[in-house]
Amino acid sequence: MSTLFSPLKINNVTFKNRIGMSPMCQYSSDDGVASNWHMVHLSSKAIGGVGLIMAEATAVSPTARISQGCAGLWAQKHVDALKPIVAYQKSFGAVTGIQIAHSGRKGSAATALEGGSHLDADDANAWETVAPTDEAFDPDGTRLWRAPRALSIDEIEAIQQQFVQSAELARDVGYDLLEIHCAHGYLLHSFLTPLVNKRDDAYGGNLKNRAKFLLETVAQVRNVWPAERVLSVRLSVHDFVDGGLTLDDSIQVSAWLKDLGVDIIDCSGGGAVPEARGAIGNRTAEQPDMAGVIRGGAGIAVMAVGGITDPKHADELVSEGKADIVLIGREMMRDPHWAFNAAKALGVDARHVLAEQYGFFVGAS
Ligand SMILES: Cc1cc2nc3c(=O)[nH]c(=O)nc-3n(C[C@H](O)[C@H](O)[C@H](O)COP(=O)(O)O)c2cc1C
Repeated sequence: MSTLFSPLKINNVTFKNRIGMSPMCQYSSDDGVASNWHMVHLSSKAIGGVGLIMAEATAVSPTARISQGCAGLWAQKHVDALKPIVAYQKSFGAVTGIQIAHSGRKGSAATALEGGSHLDADDANAWETVAPTDEAFDPDGTRLWRAPRALSIDEIEAIQQQFVQSAELARDVGYDLLEIHCAHGYLLHSFLTPLVNKRDDAYGGNLKNRAKFLLETVAQVRNVWPAERVLSVRLSVHDFVDGGLTLDDSIQVSAWLKDLGVDIIDCSGGGAVPEARGAIGNRTAEQPDMAGVIRGGAGIAVMAVGGITDPKHADELVSEGKADIVLIGREMMRDPHWAFNAAKALGVDARHVLAEQYGFFVGAS
């Protein structure tokens, strides 16, 4: 029996297998509202047999988006659009997850499809970004990154409330799993990493202080997120730059998060500064083994992500105790039936992996 296809139970949520789709921005929302594209993008992976489907970074407020095309969850209209999408994914037995996020100093950008650079200050779609300090993401780079404004403590508390409100809305949509995005140089990660956080108040300095924004947010979110559902945090477990976050730091942060009731750590990397290439940078493929280090060091369940394309590799990550769930990103764009094809490659009975409308005809062949 392949471990990749063994079920996993966390709290009251049962994952039918250990395969997840990683959250991926789709730049297909209007004022944050999900579109037909999301129905197809997300549900097609459920049809293909994926156990966990993670919706993209979803902003807790309009200015928490990366770009105008990003998803949001700050109003009832977002709930109304997401509800049928989530219900449809669930009808295929998928666990549904959503990642709530604040872009921080990497917001107010063009969509990645349009180059991803910061918008000019006088662009009608631009907004003032916020961060631990007023240092721009890439002040000297060829691409324009405007300087953010350093957040006051009152503003930090207001953003924490936005995370809580988004969590309540995600609960109302019916998601099984909520993930807080603290990776890739976005707001919460920018506070956690010493590469960006140079504050000298209670939210800056040593690791505990730099983690304060994250830990307070998680504690408040856990209060409104039902105990029977799953709470995840995505960390950049390594900053990939000297002087940045190390695996030891991330083990410590993961242990604190576990104490606050976080169930699983989603182990990504990089993205804090331009040299630390982001989520699909040149060190992405090192991340799955790092997930195993976090799992062993902090004694918490983990998701591994980064460069995983081969079913045998994915299966080994689970069987060797490096990951509880394996997330696949880009490879699922290439093959929405990755889980079905993985079952066949691993010699697992694939008859019931695909939705029966397909599986009945081709599941066994
Ligand atoms: C188009 C695209 C959009 C992404 N958007 C997000 C996102 O919304 N949130 C996030 O945490 N990571 C995001 N990522 C990173 C992926 O979740 C994943 O960690 C990364 O692609 C590495 O996995 P892979 O090698 O399987 O693609 C994105 C990646 C891509 C390619």
